Amino acid sequence: MKGIVLAGGKATRLRPLTKVTSKQLLPVYNKPMIFYPLETLVKAGIEEILIIVAPEHAGHFMHLLGSGKDFGAKFSYAIQEEPRGLADAFIVGEDFIGEESVAMILGDNIFDHDFTKQIKSFEKGGMVFAKEVEDPERFGVVDFDDKMSVLSIEEKPTKPKSNYAVVGLYVYDNQVIQLAKNLKPSARGEIEITDLNNVFLQMKELKVNIIEGVWEDAGTFEGLLSISNIMAEKAKQTVS
Ligand code: TTP
Repeated sequence: MKGIVLAGGKATRLRPLTKVTSKQLLPVYNKPMIFYPLETLVKAGIEEILIIVAPEHAGHFMHLLGSGKDFGAKFSYAIQEEPRGLADAFIVGEDFIGEESVAMILGDNIFDHDFTKQIKSFEKGGMVFAKEVEDPERFGVVDFDDKMSVLSIEEKPTKPKSNYAVVGLYVYDNQVIQLAKNLKPSARGEIEITDLNNVFLQMKELKVNIIEGVWEDAGTFEGLLSISNIMAEKAKQTVS
């Protein structure tokens, strides 16, 4: 399976921190943010990784991350000219994905979950992950029936039907390239990963796994500070 880290975007919520640099290069405790999603993919056994970046920061990412040797992986780079949405990762990454399946992780999502088992067990369709949160209205929200079958996935609903947020790691089979190309932009002008997940759901090919443990969207001031503190605390525990 191939891996993609989606690390472009505008990062407007972190201005002025992101006026001259990229969000995913900002520090999270003692490492640049992008190290965490890269390490999550590598830990899960994915060795060939495409890093999608915005044009203005491409050189910095290549300088920082190089060939991938230091991570025990092989990195390639692609430029997303405009932030067209999360589902655009599969269009920008089409040649890189080739005929394979793909795991895409958001460059500002930080996990301590080990995805190895679930990724190894992946067969077909789509597989996403959900975590119970206090502020589901900020995310894609998944609703289950009493047998934990998925009923719906809604993007940033004002009245969430559950507290389960879809987190920023998505696994799809090769159909994803064509399905992403068929998506129509939403009202905010982006091709939405929630729409893609709904296509897999309608095809009855979407699996949702619940995860526990640390998950943070580091794209807000609160998220960035909170995950830095969590990582500093973890580092202390490892030392003592
Ligand atoms: P978001 O946090 O949804 O968007 P953003 O980074 O542009 O931030 P803001 O809302 O504050 O303006 O993006 C999640 C991740 O996906 C992040 O790593 C940036 C990346 N991304 C892209 O690479 N391309 C895109 O078109 C979008 C929408 C996001």
